[in-house]
This record gives sequence, structure tokens and C-alpha cells, in this order.
Amino acid sequence: MLEATKVSGSLVLNIKNRVAKDGPLKGQRHPYVYQLVLALQNMGWRWVETYVWAKPNAVPGKFGPRTKNSFEYVYHFAKGHAPYFDLNAIRVPYKADRSEIERRKRDTLGRRSTAAGFGRDRTKTYLLGGADPGNVVSVAQTYNQYKGVAHTAAMPEGLAEFFVKAASPQGGVVVDPFAGGGTTVVVARRLGRHSGGFELHQEFVAEGLRRIAHDEADDIPGRLAVA
Ligand SMILES: C[S@@+](CC[C@H](N)C(=O)[O-])C[C@H]1O[C@@H](n2cnc3c(N)ncnc32)[C@H](O)[C@@H]1O
Repeated sequence: MLEATKVSGSLVLNIKNRVAKDGPLKGQRHPYVYQLVLALQNMGWRWVETYVWAKPNAVPGKFGPRTKNSFEYVYHFAKGHAPYFDLNAIRVPYKADRSEIERRKRDTLGRRSTAAGFGRDRTKTYLLGGADPGNVVSVAQTYNQYKGVAHTAAMPEGLAEFFVKAASPQGGVVVDPFAGGGTTVVVARRLGRHSGGFELHQEFVAEGLRRIAHDEADDIPGRLAVA
């Protein structure tokens, strides 16, 4: 995979660490996530960032001495030192209200009156079209499988959208080697990338092809938000 990736390209890995069901680690969180991260790094992938996919609607249940699992990891690796990364494509609306935004646009010495005593030009704070979303990405699980997507672990389109927009350019190539029901491929194509994937099970391949052909947006728009 590393060889096939452009020098500006990325590997984005969504993974969660399960509780071991048997063996010496039975009942504990299994460390395979961290082992995989280290293995990828040793292969030559540059570990850029760890994101948390926060699930505001994670399903409650009985999980022993722990809460329900309301996040998963998304690891961003890159091939080269300067991977393509478009922060502007994933900005979110500013939280400040209109009057605060207008005040900041005139505030050339914003912190001079604070105890720190240092002035700082704040006039450009709100000129970027939106805020940096941060590395905790809140996207509601949409349980696509109940809405006609025949895959039990389909992820919400909003999660794929965040990383496709950030880590690949328009006209770029996005490959999902564990494509499942084709969520990433469908979203990437919709966003103007060339995209395809690999999938082990024929029924999921059929499902992915069906979704590509229909390009159904399974998520309710606007589900992506900062946690
Ligand atoms: C968690 S699912 C991905 C779901 C996908 N993100 C979606 O939204 O539909 C992982 C998929 O990887 C597939 N898979 C596992 N091992 C594979 C392999 N060696 N080659 C290709 N696909 C594989 C599984 O069949 C499964 O559908």
C-alpha cells in the first residue's frame, strides 16, 4: 500500500480496540490497535495524527466495569513529510456570535489588558470561513444497515466525508481496501475523487456497487459537528 500511494498521499485507518473475549487478556482492552499503529510506523508510514470519532448516539448496554463505547479511533498516516491536507475543506461554523466576530475584526491588541500583558492582533481570527474542527470529530452513527445498506458495520457517510475532504484533492484517488458496503467509495465519488475499493464478501461488493450506481446519501445532511 505504501508503494502504491503518492508521496503526498495518506492512509486513514478507522479502528476501535475491543475487549478480549478469551486468552490471557480476557476482559481487558486488547492492545492490537497500538500494535498495528507501531507496525505501520515501522513499515514507513508517518503517523500524523490520532482522531477520535465521537458517537453522540452510541448504543447503551451492559459492558461490565466500563461505560458504553462512544468513540473509535481514526489514525492518519502519511507517506511523505508534506501530505496533502486541506483544513479549509473541513472547517466548521464559528461558535462565537456575530457581535463577537465583528469586535474581533477590529481588535489589533486583543490581550494587552490581560494579566499576561501581551498584545496580539486578533483581526484575522474570524476571516477563515470557519473554525478548525479539532481532532475530535463528532458524527452520529446512522445505523445505515437499517435503512437499506446491507452491511452490519457500515460507517456514517459524514465520517468518510471529513477525511476524504481533508486528505485528498479534487480529482485525486481514494481506495478503500476494506470497502464493506462501499461508504467511503460512494462519498469519495460524490466529492469528485476517483474511487474504488476491495471487499472480501461478494454480498457486500454487490451492496457497494448498488450504492455507487444509485449514489444514495444515507445520512441526514448536517450531522457532522465538533464534539
Ligand atoms: C468494518 S467493515 C468496513 C465497512 C465500511 N467502512 C462501510 O461503511 O461499509 C470491514 C470490511 O472489510 C472486509 N475485509 C476483511 N478482510 C478483508 C480482506 N483481506 N480483503 C478485503 N476486504 C476485507 C470485511 O468483509 C468487511 O466488510
